Amino acid sequence: MTGFTAVILAAGEGTRMKSDVPKVLHRVCGIPMLGHVINAARKAGAGRVIAVVGRGADEVRKAFESQNIEFAIQVEQKGTGHALMQAREAAKDSDTLMVLYGDMPLITAESIAAMVKFHGERRPAATVMTARVKDPTGYGRIIRDGDRVAAIREEKDASPEEKAIDEINSGFYCFDGSLVFEVLSRVKNDNRQGEYYLTDVVEIFNDQGKDVLAFEIGDPLELSGINDRRQLACAQNIMQKRIIEHWMREGVTFINPDTCMVDAGVKIGRDTVIYPGVFLEGSTEIGEGCTVIGNSRIKDSKIGNYVEIVMSQIQESIVEDKVKIGPFANLRPGCHISEGARIGDFVEMKNARVDAGSKVPHLSYVGDAVIGKKVNIGAGTIFVNYDGYKKHQTIVEDGAFIGCNSNLIAPVTVKAGSFVAAGSTITREVPEDSLAIARARQENIIGWAQKRRNKIEGGNQKNG
Ligand code: UD1
Ligand code: CA
Repeated sequence: MTGFTAVILAAGEGTRMKSDVPKVLHRVCGIPMLGHVINAARKAGAGRVIAVVGRGADEVRKAFESQNIEFAIQVEQKGTGHALMQAREAAKDSDTLMVLYGDMPLITAESIAAMVKFHGERRPAATVMTARVKDPTGYGRIIRDGDRVAAIREEKDASPEEKAIDEINSGFYCFDGSLVFEVLSRVKNDNRQGEYYLTDVVEIFNDQGKDVLAFEIGDPLELSGINDRRQLACAQNIMQKRIIEHWMREGVTFINPDTCMVDAGVKIGRDTVIYPGVFLEGSTEIGEGCTVIGNSRIKDSKIGNYVEIVMSQIQESIVEDKVKIGPFANLRPGCHISEGARIGDFVEMKNARVDAGSKVPHLSYVGDAVIGKKVNIGAGTIFVNYDGYKKHQTIVEDGAFIGCNSNLIAPVTVKAGSFVAAGSTITREVPEDSLAIARARQENIIGWAQKRRNKIEGGNQKNG
C-alpha cells in the first residue's frame, strides 16, 4: 500500500448539535462533513483511511460502506489520545500516520499534502499543523522552540502567559507510525478533564530527544471545526464559496453566486450560465452552454449540452442536448428527455421517456409513459396511470398527435402516426395512422335558448 495512513477521529459526542444524527453525518454542501475530510485525505494521497467512530457507529459505517474506509470503535470517549489508540491494530504497520478530525471539513487536500511532504522530507517523530489566529480561546497553544514544538498546552491547563500565545494546535498531526503508539501508551489522564490527551505525546517525544516540528498553514479558516448549527452554517458558507469559485474558474458564469447552492458532487460544463437562486444538488452533472434560470432545483440528474431550464425542478432524471424545460415544469424521478424535446409550463412528469423532438408544451401530467419521436401532447393531457392500487404504462408511438384535454387511461397504446381528437378519453388501443374520437357527439338544438328565456322571463330580452 502506498501513501500515508489517515486516521480520522470522529467519535466525539457532538452534544451541541442537539441532534439524533451523529455529528459527522451532518451535511456540508450535500455530503456528510466526514466525507469532506475523507475526500481531502484521499486526494492528498492517503493509501488507507481509518475512521475512529463512537456514537452512531453503525450509521456512520453504513454511510461510508461503499468508500473503502476502515473503522475502529471507541466505545467511551476518553480523549483524543485514547481515540487514536483505538486505531492501533488497524494502523500498526503504517510508515507515516496522519491524524485528522471528522468535524473539520474545510481542511484542503493541498494543506494535507504539503504537510505530508514536509514531514517526509524532515522525518521528525511528529509534525503538528498549526495556524495563527486572532482569538485562540479554546484551542491548545503551541509552545515553540524555533521550528520545533516543545509542548502543546490545553486552554484549561494553560498559564496566563501561555494563553496569550496566538499560535494554535489544529489537532492534525503527522506521526512516525513506528513510534507513536508506544509513546501514546505512556500518556496519562492526570489533567483537568481527566482525558487522555493526544497532545501529551509532544512532550514525551521531546523528553526522548526526538524532533517535533510545527507546520504552520496560512489560512486558519481551513481549521474551523463544527460543534453546533451556527458553525455548520459557517462551514457551509465557506465551502459553498469555494465550490462556486472553482466552477467559475472552469468557465461557468454565475450571475449572482451568493444566491446559488451547488453541492460538492456537482459538475458543470463551460459556458453554462447559472442565474440567481439556482440549487444544484447531489450528483447532478450539467453540460456545456446550458442556461439555468432562477428558482430551478436540479438534483441527482444528468443534463446534456445547450439545454435551457427555466424555473423548474428536475430530480433523478436524464435530459439530453438542446432540450427546453419550463417555466414551472416538475420532472420527478425516472424521466429521460431526448434531444431537442420540449417540456413546457406546468407539466409534471414521473418515470417518463420522451424521445427526440417531441413536445409536451403545457399543463399536463405524464406518468409512467413512453412517448416516441416527434409526438405532440396537447395542452391539458393527462396520463391516467393509477387505478388506486397499481401504476400502469401508456405508450404513445412516433409521430402521434394527442389533442388538448385528453385522458389516456393506462394501460393503453396510441400507435404511430395516429391522432386523438381533443377532449377524448382513450381506453383502448388506437391503431396506426387512425383518428380516435372518444367524446359525446355535439348536437345543436336550434332556438332552444330563446325558448328558455321566454319561458322564464316571459319576455324576449337576451341573456345578461
Ligand atoms: C483538541 C486538541 C487541541 C486542539 C483542538 C483543535 C487535545 C487534547 N486537544 O481539543 O489542542 O487545539 O483539538 O480543534 O487533543 N474525539 C474522539 N474521541 C474522544 C475525544 C475526541 O473521537 O474521546 C474526536 C472528536 O470527535 C473531534 C476531535 O477528536 O473530532 C477533537 O476532539 P475535541 O474534544 O473537540 O478536542 P478539543 O478539546 O477541542
Ligand atoms: Ca475536549
